[in-house]
Amino acid sequence: MQTFIDAFSDIDGPILDLGCGTGRLLVEFLKARRDMVGCDAANDMIEWAEKVLAEADVACPLYVQAAHQLDIDQSFAGVYMCGAFGLGGSRQQDLESLRRVHGHLREGGRFVMDHYLPNLESPKGWEAWITKPELPRSWPKHVERKVARDGSEFELRTRQHDFDPLRQTTTLEIEVTKSRDGEEIGQERGLIDIGLYFLSELELMLASAGFSDVQVTSFGEPTAPEPWVDRRILIQAVA
Ligand SMILES: C[S@@+](CC[C@H](N)C(=O)[O-])C[C@H]1O[C@@H](n2cnc3c(N)ncnc32)[C@H](O)[C@@H]1O
Repeated sequence: MQTFIDAFSDIDGPILDLGCGTGRLLVEFLKARRDMVGCDAANDMIEWAEKVLAEADVACPLYVQAAHQLDIDQSFAGVYMCGAFGLGGSRQQDLESLRRVHGHLREGGRFVMDHYLPNLESPKGWEAWITKPELPRSWPKHVERKVARDGSEFELRTRQHDFDPLRQTTTLEIEVTKSRDGEEIGQERGLIDIGLYFLSELELMLASAGFSDVQVTSFGEPTAPEPWVDRRILIQAVA
């Protein structure tokens, strides 16, 4: 998250965290005394963010709005999206999101987003672009484990449910299992559609939304991203 804080260190004025989730980054910006607004498409995320901010003894306005319908009566010196671009919507909605971000920035304001390039880490993932895979894929052996503050344990598994190389979309299935003292007490599964974007397409979308001076770096490094090396990149653009 320091990468995002650093990206705005040289500009003053209000900053919008678009797709703020539970307020993970908002808290750090607010502790650094930045003037913040948070926004997320999901009502429950904003409810969590309210709690997380209150526990950290910080506060800022929070809105429930999807990026492609962003309509906040304020203009910002900066807007960022961390892990929130391309989720759940169509390409038209993603382009409209960038237009709305542009419309909420002051002239010369800065937009910053991180982005994961499609499936660069997995040769198996690439095969699916040329040969139809069996879908949904089997569940991976790897399980991500987390312990909540109340001591309950969560196991998270993700698998590819659908993929369309023509439309560049993938659907992930996410399964969360909750247990306490080793005993399973609940399980939920959900699907999320993700738009897959290559860098040139994003650059064209940003230009089409009105942005200029688009700069791309390796995530967390000031250097240009390297082909075959970088999977997560940071994109900055000027309104
Ligand atoms: C992976 S989480 C990242 C949360 C937060 N930015 C962070 O880094 O901790 C993605 C968040 O984006 C939100 N989101 C997804 N699509 C969105 C959209 N179109 N407009 C606004 N928020 C969106 C989700 O509800 C979720 O809270």
